[in-house]
Amino acid sequence: MEKIRVYAPATVANVACGFDIFGFAVNNPGDEVVLEKKSTPGIVIKEITGDDGRLPKAVEKNTAGIAIQKYLAHIGREDQGFELSLHKDMPLGSGLGSSAASAVAGVFAANELMGRPLSQKDLLPFAMEGERVACGSAHADNVGPSLLGGFIVIRSYDPLDIIQVPVPADLYASIVHPQIEVNTKDARGILDKEISLATTITQMGNVAGLVAGLLLPDYELIGRSLVDVIIEPSRAILIPGFAEVKAAAIASGALGCSISGSGPSLFALSKGEETAQKVAKAMAAEFAALGIGSEQYVSQINQKGPVVLAD
Ligand code: HSE
Repeated sequence: MEKIRVYAPATVANVACGFDIFGFAVNNPGDEVVLEKKSTPGIVIKEITGDDGRLPKAVEKNTAGIAIQKYLAHIGREDQGFELSLHKDMPLGSGLGSSAASAVAGVFAANELMGRPLSQKDLLPFAMEGERVACGSAHADNVGPSLLGGFIVIRSYDPLDIIQVPVPADLYASIVHPQIEVNTKDARGILDKEISLATTITQMGNVAGLVAGLLLPDYELIGRSLVDVIIEPSRAILIPGFAEVKAAAIASGALGCSISGSGPSLFALSKGEETAQKVAKAMAAEFAALGIGSEQYVSQINQKGPVVLAD
């Protein structure tokens, strides 16, 4: 194979209580990469669309470019050159794992074209390098679910230990992306570096409760556990109308609601698609009342991760 088109999905990281350790993939939006082998070494970023000219075409600064570069170095095939086109189908700085989806699509495409020398799971460290370039931290709670699909727990970063947790079939996510932008690096910079024992205990209870709720499955327990006492209080101030939008989601039947990744998108989880649609509309209406436009997405938890698209 000489050329491939790959789609990688957006993701909701943190999932309220699991800062840097929980994330799940959704069916849409997502990013698309077209990767083609070339006869000379080196990666060339030929085209980027959907980014209003904002993403770097320099390979070392581009999340997909660096992920492929690190991957080729690892498998000892830096002699293989590629031409890359990136089609952004989701907003930048939205908290939906935009940089992660590009890195995942890129490294997955490269592995396919190289004849799949590495397993999908083994591609994770290279996609994480994309995150390091994007925000200064190689967190895996977006790249993990975008690469593997499903709901992901990162039990440990060193050594990397990633677990896929089954989710109940009727669990739906509503995501609302208000038309404001939050830079992940800034949103990480404002966080408290130390937390009290009492706060840690509360958060650990919710982390355990959420995993148990997904496995049992117990929708009410999932809802009770979607509480973040560490990160959300600091970041909520970056999102105008946060409290009102969250209240609207709960009033419309959501199990729980919090910030998606570093924001400004908010996500809610609901039982059933009908409720999830109602929740998304109510959240968007709340932003609209503040004069803030938004995009809404409703999706089951994506179980596939990246997929090869027809040419
Ligand atoms: N866990 C990361 C953060 C996700 O919250 O900073 C960024 O999308």
